[in-house]
Order: sequence, then C-alpha cells, then structure tokens
Amino acid sequence: MILVTGGTGLVGSHLLYLLLKDGQKVRAIHRKGSDLTILNNVFSYYTKDATSLLQNLEWFEANITDIPKLEAAFKNITLVYHAAAYVDFNPKNYYKLKKANIEGTANVVNMCIAHQVKKLCYVSSIATLGDAIGNEVLDEESYWNPEAKNSVYAITKYGAEMEVWRATQEGLDAVIVNPGVILGEGLWHKGSGSIVKRVAKGLTYYTTGGIGLVDVQDVTRVMVELMKSNITNKRFILVAENVPYKDFLGELAEKLNTRKPSRKIAKWKLSLFSSIDWFFSFFFGTKRKLLRTHVESLYKFDTYDGNAITKAIDFEYTPLAITMERVADNFRKAT
Ligand SMILES: NC(=O)c1ccc[n+]([C@@H]2O[C@H](COP(=O)([O-])OP(=O)(O)OC[C@H]3O[C@@H](n4cnc5c(N)ncnc54)[C@H](OP(=O)(O)O)[C@@H]3O)[C@@H](O)[C@H]2O)c1
Repeated sequence: MILVTGGTGLVGSHLLYLLLKDGQKVRAIHRKGSDLTILNNVFSYYTKDATSLLQNLEWFEANITDIPKLEAAFKNITLVYHAAAYVDFNPKNYYKLKKANIEGTANVVNMCIAHQVKKLCYVSSIATLGDAIGNEVLDEESYWNPEAKNSVYAITKYGAEMEVWRATQEGLDAVIVNPGVILGEGLWHKGSGSIVKRVAKGLTYYTTGGIGLVDVQDVTRVMVELMKSNITNKRFILVAENVPYKDFLGELAEKLNTRKPSRKIAKWKLSLFSSIDWFFSFFFGTKRKLLRTHVESLYKFDTYDGNAITKAIDFEYTPLAITMERVADNFRKAT
C-alpha cells in the first residue's frame, strides 16, 4: 500500500488523483482540522466522477511530528510519497518550520526504515540549491551555501533533504524532486493559486526578478515515474522554464483577460514598504504582508536547469503557455 503525506496540499492532492486513477491502494495522512473537501475540488478538474475515486482513498489522521500516530499510519506501507511541509517565510515561525519540516521528515524517513519501505519520494524545493554566482545556471550539483542569506523556509527544506540523504545511508531507497514554483489549480487561497487570484484582479507594477516554473501535473507525473523506475538516491530539479516576472505576470494576465503589469517598481520602494510593514507587525501585531525575503526574491533571477529528469525518464515538460492557459481557464470556472 502507498502512503502519501500532504494530501490536502497542492502537490499531494494532484498526486492522489494520479495514484487513485491508476487503481493504486492509497492511504493519505491528514491533520486534525485539515480541509478534506480540497480533494473534491482538485479531482473535479480531472473527472466528473471524483466521488467514486475518492471512495478508494483511506484517510488516516496523523501529524508527521506525532510518532505514535505515524507508527500506526505506516502499517502495511511499501511506498511513501512525502509532500507534507509547512510553507512559510516569516522568520518568526522558524521553530514551527523546523519542527514540521526537519523533525517531521526525520520521523517519516525513520518510519520508512523501521517498516522496511521499498522506496520514498520526497518533495524538496529549488530553495535548497543555494544562490547562483554571477550568471551560473543552477543544477543538481549546485550546493547549499550556509553563509548566504537563506530564508527560514529554505533552511528547513535543506535540513529535511539532509534527513532523507541520511536515511539513504541507513539503507532507504529514495528519490528527491526539487521543483521551482508549482503552477496548478484547486488551491486558490495559497501558493501559486494566490498569485493567479492576484493577477486576475489586474496588476499595475512588476519587479525586475524572475522565476522558475513547473506544472503541478508534471511534478506528480515525474514523482510516480521515478518511483516506478530503478533510479534511487538521486535528486532532480523540476523547472520547465525560467522567466522574468514581467513576462510571466503579463502572459498570465493575458490568459485571464485582465490588465497586464506595465510599470516597473523600484526595489527601494518595496523595501520601504516591507520595513513599515515590519514596524506595524512588531508594535501593533498586524499580519506581515511583505517580508524582506519576498522583496529579495522579487528582484532576483536565478536560473535553473531542469533537463536532467528528461534524460533520466521518458518525460517532457508541459510548455508554460499551455499550463497557464489551463490554470487560467480552471480559475475562471472556479470563480
Ligand atoms: N507549491 C510550490 O510552489 C512548491 C515549490 C517547491 C516545493 N514545494 C514543496 O512541495 C511540497 C508540497 O507543497 P504544496 O504546495 O502542496 O504545499 P501546501 O499546499 O501548503 O500543502 C502542505 C501540506 O502539508 C500538510 N502538512 C503541513 N504540516 C504538516 C504536519 N505537521 N503534519 C502533517 N501534514 C502537514 C498540510 O496539511 P493541512 O491540510 O493539515 O494543512 C498540506 O497537506 C512541500 O514540501 C513544499 O515545500 C512546493
């Protein structure tokens, strides 16, 4: 039986569709209070008969930081997809991030070893690859620089990846995927979904950085194919295209029939806004709207080479224009 963590997230929900459609027996863990209706939402983009597919899914309540619950969740499990993570960039939440991402992943891989799981697929991120030096194109051999100004999210995703590599030394067969920003439908309130939602309202400004993007359906397809393959103990960057924000937001706006961003905004203005935002959050407890990490990434354009996966398995990326078309179309249907 297959175990999936993070099944109520963007990657996990699309992955569950793929596995269930393939007739696999799947158990997915969820937390107390997780919104399980997300699955109906996501599956409805693929099929009219989401309900019957979902009947074959076994939900199991377990937090990845709760070892006794995880122990029970791992009963009769042979393959594991670990897509659960706490995604947040606020330094204030560093200890929560460490707990869920590093300790949670350590628990998952330890369970894999204890239960003699045949193979694990872990969803990491391009955030663990470090920053490019000059015009360097980052690839699977690019390594983390602990001296750099790494975000708290990146630090904990890197720590999690180290737990997976440690487990491979202890005998676990594992593959890691390092996706760029994942575009996909269904979760419009967070991640790339909230970018789509924001662009749909019309943007005026753009920043001068860029972004590495990949389709959620490509990510899940690669994960499944890697698990079927003989490939072990390797990681693969998943980036279909590297594009300047201006082009990405402009093309997405075009597909959403809304205003394209046309005016460049200077970094110092957003940095100033971020400082004011910090001031109000610190003194008046307001929710942070723009973190310094976000400002930095909006003006950075590191490029990633996502080609290794296309040589390792029979796979080609979906062109970004097609992904954007589909996601925009599904966004319009959903709203
Ligand atoms: N989305 C992207 O653009 C992107 C890019 C690169 C890498 N990634 C990585 O891809 C993976 C999946 O991302 P995503 O976008 O699908 O994230 P997401 O939509 O935020 O979903 C996160 C999932 O993790 C679960 N989770 C969080 N903490 C947990 C805990 N302590 N115990 C059990 N489950 C927990 C959440 O469950 P609840 O429903 O209970 O909250 C949810 O199912 C993550 O590892 C992320 O770092 C994402």
